[in-house]
Amino acid sequence: MAASFDGAAGRERTTLNAGWRFARFTSNPDSLSYDTLKPWILPLANDFLAGTKHERPSGTAPGAKVSYVQAGFDDSKWEQLDLPHDWAIKGTFNAPGVGGGLGRLPINGVGWYRRTVSLDADVVASGKSIFLDVDGAMAYSAVWLNGNLVGGWPFGYNSFRLDLTPFAKAGDNRLAIRLDNALESSRWYPGAGIYRNVWLVTVNPVHVAQYGTYVTTPSVSAQKATLDMVVEIENSGNSSQQVEVTTKVYALDPETRKASGDAVARIPTVRANVAGRAKQAVNGSVTIANPTLWGPPPTQKPNEYIAISVLSINGTAVDTYETPFGVRSIKYDANKGVLINGEAVRIHGTCNHHDLGSLGTAFNVRAAERQIQMLQEMGGNALRTSHNPPAPEFLEIADRLGLLVMDEIFDTWNYAKVENDFHRIFPDWHEPDLRSFIRRDRNHPSIISWSVGNELSEQSNSIGGATGKMLQDIVHQEDPTRQVTVGMNNAGPGTALAKAIDIIGLNYQGEGRGTSWSSTFPSFHSTYPDKMIWSTESASTVSSRGIYIFPITNNKSAVVGGGAGQGADPTTRHVSAYELYAPSWASSPDKVFEQQDKNSYVAGEFVWTGWDYIGEPTPYDNSSRSSYFGIIDLAGFKKDRFFLYQARWRPDLPMAHVLPHWTWPDRVGKVTPVHVFTSGDEAELFVNGVTAGRQKKGQYDSRLRWDNVTYAPGSIRVVAYKNGKEWASTSQQTVGTAASITLTADRTSIRGDGHDLSFITVAVVDKDGHTVPRASNEITFSVSSGSGKIVSTDNGDPTDETPFPSLSRKAFSGLALAIVRAEPGAQGDIVIDAKSNGLVGGRVVLRAG
Ligand code: GAL
Repeated sequence: MAASFDGAAGRERTTLNAGWRFARFTSNPDSLSYDTLKPWILPLANDFLAGTKHERPSGTAPGAKVSYVQAGFDDSKWEQLDLPHDWAIKGTFNAPGVGGGLGRLPINGVGWYRRTVSLDADVVASGKSIFLDVDGAMAYSAVWLNGNLVGGWPFGYNSFRLDLTPFAKAGDNRLAIRLDNALESSRWYPGAGIYRNVWLVTVNPVHVAQYGTYVTTPSVSAQKATLDMVVEIENSGNSSQQVEVTTKVYALDPETRKASGDAVARIPTVRANVAGRAKQAVNGSVTIANPTLWGPPPTQKPNEYIAISVLSINGTAVDTYETPFGVRSIKYDANKGVLINGEAVRIHGTCNHHDLGSLGTAFNVRAAERQIQMLQEMGGNALRTSHNPPAPEFLEIADRLGLLVMDEIFDTWNYAKVENDFHRIFPDWHEPDLRSFIRRDRNHPSIISWSVGNELSEQSNSIGGATGKMLQDIVHQEDPTRQVTVGMNNAGPGTALAKAIDIIGLNYQGEGRGTSWSSTFPSFHSTYPDKMIWSTESASTVSSRGIYIFPITNNKSAVVGGGAGQGADPTTRHVSAYELYAPSWASSPDKVFEQQDKNSYVAGEFVWTGWDYIGEPTPYDNSSRSSYFGIIDLAGFKKDRFFLYQARWRPDLPMAHVLPHWTWPDRVGKVTPVHVFTSGDEAELFVNGVTAGRQKKGQYDSRLRWDNVTYAPGSIRVVAYKNGKEWASTSQQTVGTAASITLTADRTSIRGDGHDLSFITVAVVDKDGHTVPRASNEITFSVSSGSGKIVSTDNGDPTDETPFPSLSRKAFSGLALAIVRAEPGAQGDIVIDAKSNGLVGGRVVLRAG
């Protein structure tokens, strides 16, 4: 691919995702380390440091002699691949040294990536600036071009830019990237490799700087909105230039992400004299009449705008820069919570880690969109990017779908949680990481708050207070429009951090940690009557989809364990989906809801977690592969809990859900409790057609429970009522033996672009087509015709150690998943088959194009 220059647009941004060679080394192959490279890497931070800058050392930089950076190195035996790439996800579980927290996959080691970048002679000769933009690489990136160390960026979750110009030449250039991923670097699966997009950006010497625009809407009403905009101009030439900046504002088409229709506003032209080798910011302002506001559904719409800024010199356009944004107001009220465009929007949020289940951390737009859409189907309106910056495209999806985002950056500050986490580089990198993160993300209307940390070890001492204030001050300098929060699990109303921080974020403390602590909402609220409070983490309920363990607890919430009534089975390593069990510090959803209702000034909650994730398999950290915390399992199948949240978060949706399943040949005559989740306020249960009684929810009840039902084969049926009127009904029936498999695609039409995905659910069903709830038949998948590829399979079972790319996988609680991608350029039908011994096979046909 040759990067050429389009003079009309003034700027070219091309993908560098294709055609890489890659090798992973479990022991250091090159004697390099962050410590030796650091003096050359630190200067990259300079644009994001307010004070003293770093100077690049003179002389030859390290690595020049390492063979992997040389053009002549023969990499033909290295793996050939395209980005985004997660080097660990296809591996086998139980990788040496990789514990359960990290997900047992081979994330560790040094990874080298190599490719050629071809540059047209006129691009190099005409003094253009040539940048490499890396959206995310895990971790400790160091980049060489033509044997020269250009720079790097240690924090694997941040995006960064390198200036290739001084080392670039016409024709083929050799780009080599070294990553170093340590063991004990994270409390969850971090992934590994260049797992986000990589871009080549070519601009004229006078151009809009990196993250060089900042749009705010200081006053917003239905009649008009004031829009302020800062444009930072960078002049990488040697002589000063008279630059004119003109910005027009258009409605943004959500699908194409381009301007639609005529300009709705024009910011008056501003002129600036920009010195050589300098940056200069200019300000503009304009009013938009009758703005279409951005806000979260269902009560508001996520309308977006795009500002197109043109830089000109002597009447000739030299750069064109697009800034999507939204017009909305935000207020934080200690009693009413978050107000968006004047409407109090209660936060129905979830925390999510960044992996995409069996696809790993390699970013994929459709996989992320699916995660958000399922959370929205549940009534979720907010997401905390625990505990690190997301992919840039994630925020574009959030903007488009109207999801509110708590954008979080750190899990640790000065002190370690695990040996090799961010605390090692916090002193050098907290400021550049924080400033670049805010500048990258601050134009997204979806972001309602910045979180600068989570459960810091220093949260209750004076270092925590001082560090929190220092970080918050940096955020306010970069973005005065949003408040800052941290997740605190162990702080009191008097602690320095709680005093310092804008929004009180409580992890588990709010609902009263476990069964022995009482709620700290009231004491925080009375100490800080003007601060907003929210649960930055709530619940941490654990369960395995479709697994029910007897007897159950009589309580609303219980600590998970292996004893009778404690919800877990240490032999199978499963946790009961009655959704009542949590680790000692956490609680069931029901208990959280009760505390949120009793303390209605609380702005809402972010549940730990929306989706299951790889790693941190509490309560089986020493043996399982993935978490039990998700409301939705790792494959994307709904646990029962999904309906408990939906019942509360979508009160106007008529729905009822009953559990457990009703196929228990081993429980005939045994007590088998029946629980109902409904948006109604009352329900009647019928067991084999006979009423088991009608029950009404008490003031703080979130479920209806019939704990003394005796199992007999047949059916259970529930009729729910709201305000005395029939509202919804549902049933479960005893299912026969497995007879066949069915395949259902979430989307049967996908784009043949090499990225779009179809998620295919396989169900093991009886002769009448009912899912067999405990089926675990081995399923084998194949692409029978068409240009499609089965990228990975899963079943949501946290104990399943079958590698994710395997085409054979057991069903778990009757279901399995295959993820299919259409190859680039694919047209027409892709036929996917699934077979299983003794069962009638199934098929689904996708259409690519
Ligand atoms: C919290 C922590 C999360 C996760 C969770 C599990 O304390 O902030 O990252 O570990 O516990 O319950």
